[in-house]
Parts: sequence; structure tokens; C-alpha cells
Amino acid sequence: MDKISLIIKQAVKKLFELDQDIQLSRPDAQFGDFATNVAMKLAKEVGANPRQIAEQLAAELMTTGLFAEVTVAGPGFINLRLLAQNLAGQLQADWSDAFGQTSDGDGKIAVVEYPSPNMAKPYSVGHLRPGNQGWAVKRLLETTGWKVITDDHLGDYGAPFGIWVTGFLKFSSDAALDKDGVYELGRVYIQTKKALKEEKERGEDDLASQVQDWLIKLEASDSQAKAFSDKFNKISLDHIHNVMARMKISTDYELGEAFFAPMGKDIVAELLKTGVAIKNDDNSIIVPLDDYGIEVPLLVQKSNGAALYATTDLATILYREQNWHPDKVVYCVGSEQQFYFTQLFAMAKKLGIKTELYHLWFGFIDQLNEDGTREKMSSRKGVVLMEELLDQAEAKAREVVKDRSVSDEDLKKIALGAIKFSDFVADRRTNILFNWDSIFALSGFSGPYIQYAAVRVNKILSDNPIQPELAGEYDYEAEKSLILKLLEYPEVVRLAARDLEPHKVASYLYELSRELNRYYEQTPVATGSVSPVQKQARLGLMQKISFVLANGLSLLGIEVPGSM
Ligand code: ARG
Repeated sequence: MDKISLIIKQAVKKLFELDQDIQLSRPDAQFGDFATNVAMKLAKEVGANPRQIAEQLAAELMTTGLFAEVTVAGPGFINLRLLAQNLAGQLQADWSDAFGQTSDGDGKIAVVEYPSPNMAKPYSVGHLRPGNQGWAVKRLLETTGWKVITDDHLGDYGAPFGIWVTGFLKFSSDAALDKDGVYELGRVYIQTKKALKEEKERGEDDLASQVQDWLIKLEASDSQAKAFSDKFNKISLDHIHNVMARMKISTDYELGEAFFAPMGKDIVAELLKTGVAIKNDDNSIIVPLDDYGIEVPLLVQKSNGAALYATTDLATILYREQNWHPDKVVYCVGSEQQFYFTQLFAMAKKLGIKTELYHLWFGFIDQLNEDGTREKMSSRKGVVLMEELLDQAEAKAREVVKDRSVSDEDLKKIALGAIKFSDFVADRRTNILFNWDSIFALSGFSGPYIQYAAVRVNKILSDNPIQPELAGEYDYEAEKSLILKLLEYPEVVRLAARDLEPHKVASYLYELSRELNRYYEQTPVATGSVSPVQKQARLGLMQKISFVLANGLSLLGIEVPGSM
């Protein structure tokens, strides 16, 4: 496309001695492959009517031999129809193992933070989108020349440790913990909270004071408290790692809130001295942000001296500045925290941080109720657990492939493909609708639809080996729209990375797959009366399509199954 703009630019220069940037649009296919309104833009400067200018340009462009047809329409639109063979040549010229990669990022450093779940609770769908979007953003930035550092900002601080130990001693056992791990911790937590509430209603405080005692012990590094904390943390972290492994996501670091809390307290003390932070009458500490247009100050220390979420985030920002020197930090966190991040980023500005801090938020995951209404996804037991969702998806994948023989590994790829892709079907800010049938629809805008297109093209390729000695001149007319689509890919990736919007890649892959399916309906690739030359040319193109489908899916964290 860039090439075509350039050729038109050169023609304008030659005829009118003007430097004019050329915008191309895609007209209805009956008019041509591209159109430009450059003649209208030039009219004033050239001092001629646009129709005349367009006709002169059309004649000039035809002399390049690139176009099958250049026509003028209406007041001066120029429609261009390319020779498919030239497009194929262009694709060949652009092609390499790195097709789709760019160096836009120029080695700049991006920190991408995801999925940042909270410890000691089973991993729920609440952290599905942060993980998927974060991973895709990491891949997009990497492929466009950024150096990416990924960090899982674990919610491991202020976790109600006292409640767990008290509850564990009263309601649980080592055996139960060994058996059910984090699910037992989750259960104990809920049961203990309930008991605490009931106790309070009775006007007692026996359990409540045990909770306090354990917290104080932990603060004082008591060895027994430390042993409990280590044990619960390990169970929790192992669980998080398991789930992330199933989701095929990982991070370079996992520096959680607990790591930053002590640092945060020191920084707050420092900010008090310099007057950036202010102590309230009740001894809590705030950073006023009204000078940054935000009326609500950020609370950075509780009145009892305890660190808060914001205290740890403050330390996190400074730690990353000092250790990683990022040009951009992307926080992949749900939309609920939008206001908080506005405050946090304003505070960073106030501290003189110049780095671009970006809250990459997304809508909720909705489900459809039986009466047709939509609501935030939940289950009878409350939140939907990630492991349950993955198990269900694998069962569903089994149903979808029916009795075809598909390996367990491939089933997992299909299950994950369906779940992940559903995250990318719309602009990330929109709520997505989770519906088992549509996310697995083999004929719709779904992961499995695209995986299937890839599997099918791979099957053609493995059944029909490429034989370069049989290749020859070929016109590529039947393949023209496929080639045009492939030529778009690098620009699609570039824009998706620029806007941190993996959805753009997902849409593109869907369009390419649809184009491919349309093509199969009309054109036999390797069967019937296909000549050896046709067959080789078509297989060559199929190879490129296979590459782009796999590459695009991998940017979304999705793999291509061997069969399905
Ligand atoms: N653990 C938090 C949550 O689940 C998300 C952490 C987001 N990152 C941050 N730097 N505050 O809500």
C-alpha cells in the first residue's frame, strides 16, 4: 500500500511539481482495489479542475505498467485496479521470516504488568482479561521492536493473614490443606469471616483478638507466624503458577505488594519531609492532587501507620524507574480501578516522573441469563473459578471435535483458543459476552474458526509438498484479494501495537480466514484440473497464509492445533 501511495506521489511530483501525501481508500471491488481523492486536493494549487487533473494522473499512472486499469469517477476520484501478478511480486518482495515485525519501538523499554491476582484466593475469571490482554500486549510490543519487561504485581499484602491462621487452627487441618490447597484456604477464609461476624453480634471478641495476635506476631517476625505465612504463600503461589501455566502466560518478575510495602513506608516518610504529603489530624497521610485537577487526595498511609495499596504502588513506580528505566509502563487492570490509576498517575507526575504510565483497562465479562438479560459473569457459588472454566472449556472442545481423533494437547489448544479469542472480539473497553456456543462456533468470529482455517491450510500443505522445479509464470487473478489481505498484515500489527489493541489482530485474522474460505469455494488449490504451475503458485501462497495465521494467533497467545 505504501508502495502504491509512493508511485502516485511520484506521478504528482512529475506532472505538477508538488509534494503531496497520498491517502488511499478501498472502494467497492467493482470500481477497483484502491481509490484516491488527491485530484480534488490538488485542484486549488494546480489551478485546474479536479476532473482534468485526475485524467492526467490516470494516464501517467497507466504508463507504470503496475495497473490493470486506472479510471476517473465523479468529480475527480481516481480508481486503481492492480495487476494481481504485480501484487504477488510485491508480496514476495516484502516477504521474510519476520513478516509482520517492525522496529517501531526502536528498542525502547516497556514494562507490562499482568495478571496481578490476589493471593490465598483461588484464581477467578476476574483475572482472565488482565492475563490475556497483558500477554497479547507484551507480544505486540515485542514484535514491533520494544524491549519488554513483564511483571506480575501479586496482591500479597495486607492479605488477612490473621484470619487464615485463626481459621486454619479452628476449622481446618494439615490434611485438608494438603488435599484442597488454595480452595481450602478460600473456604476457611469465608467460614472464619462468618464466625467473626456472628461473634460480634453476640458481643464477644475471642476470635477477633486471636486474629489481631497473629498479625502482631507476623509483624514481629515470630517464627511460628512466619512458618504459617510461608506455607500459605507457597500453596497460593503454586496455584497461581499452575493456572498461569494452563493459560500459557508467564512473566519475567513477580514483585508483589508485600515486596514494596516497606519501601513504600520509607518513601511516604520522605514525602512528608518535603511537604508533598500531608499528615491529617488522625495521623493518616495523604498526597493532595488538586493541583493536578483531582479533588480527592490519595491516601498513602493509614492512621495506624499501615501501608495501603497506594503506598505499595508508589514504591513500585519508583523501583521500576530506578531499576528498569522504562519508557512506558502498561498496567493491565480492570475498569473498576480507573479512578485510582488517574490518582496514582497524577501523584507520579507530582513526583516528577516523566515515564508514560498507561492504565490498560477493559470491560467486564458478561454472561447471558436464561431470561435473555446480561449480567457480570458469576456462578451459583459466587465467582467463576479459572480452573473450572478451563475444565469446562476442555470438555466443550471435546464435544466440538466430536469423534474426530484429536490429541489431548490439541484439545487444550482449542479450549484455550476459544476462551482467549473471546477476549479480543471487540475493542477491549467493551464488556464481552461469554457464551459457550459462540466462543466455539466453527462458523463465527471465534478462535476455533481461525484455528480451523489454519489447520485446513496446513493439511493442504502437508498433503501437497512444494516442488519448486514445477513452478512457472502465473497470473494470480483468482488470489488477488487474498494477496491484498496478506499485504495488509504488517500495518495491522503496527496499529494494534500502537494502540495496544489486540482486537485489531483478531479482526484481521477473521477477515483473512473468511477470505480464504471464500477462495476455496471457487478455486481448487491442489485438486481436479489444476495444472502443476497453478498448483505450485497456489501452494506458495498457502504457505504464506499459514504463516500469517499462526503468527497472528501467537500474538494473541493462541496456538494452532495439529488437527481438530
Ligand atoms: N491485585 C490487584 C487486583 O486484583 C491488581 C493490581 C494491579 N496493579 C497495580 N499496580 N495496582 O485488583
